[in-house]
Amino acid sequence: MWYYEKKLQYPVRVGTCNPMLAKFLIEQYGGADGELAAALRYLNQRYTIPDKVVGLLNDIGTEEFAHLEMIATMVYKLTKDATPEQLKAAGLGDHYVNHDKALFYHDAAGVPFTASYIQAKGDPIADLYEDIAAEEKARATYQWIIDMSDDPDLNDGLKYLREREIVHSQRFREAVEILIEDRTTKKVF
Ligand SMILES: [Fe+2]
Repeated sequence: MWYYEKKLQYPVRVGTCNPMLAKFLIEQYGGADGELAAALRYLNQRYTIPDKVVGLLNDIGTEEFAHLEMIATMVYKLTKDATPEQLKAAGLGDHYVNHDKALFYHDAAGVPFTASYIQAKGDPIADLYEDIAAEEKARATYQWIIDMSDDPDLNDGLKYLREREIVHSQRFREAVEILIEDRTTKKVF
C-alpha cells in the first residue's frame, strides 16, 4: 500500500506560459519511455522477480509516480494561461478539441499510451536489462527536451528528473550484478 504525501518530490517552477514546451514534455507523461510506462513496468515486474531485488522495483516504481506528478504539474503550469490560439500555434489544437486543457496519456505526437510499451518477460535478467534500457531512454529524452527549452526554471526540474534516471539505471545495473552473483555462488548446506 501507499501513503500519499501532499507535496512534489522536487519543486516545479515554470518561467512563462509555453504550450510548445508542454507539447514536447507530454512525451514523458504518456510516451513509450515516459514516467507512466516506467511506474507500471517496475511495479508489475515485482511479483516474479527474485526477493533480493523486489524492494528496488518497489522503490523505483513508486518514485516514478512522483515523477509523473511533477511532469503533470509542469504541463499544467506551461498551459494554464494559454489561449486556444496559442495552443493551436503550438501544435496542441488536436489535443484541445478533445481534452480542453486536461492532461491525457499520449506522447508528443499525440499517440495514446498503450500497455505494449512495457514488458514483463518473467526472466529476471531480461526484465532488468529492459529496465536499464528504459532508464537510459528516459534520460536521453529529458536531455533532448532540455536542449529545446529556453526556460531555466523548467530546466531546473528537468535536470533533477534526468539525474534520477541516471541513479535508477545504476541501481538496476547493481541488481543485475546481485542476481548474477547469486546464481554463480556455490550453495553450501
Ligand atoms: Fe526512472
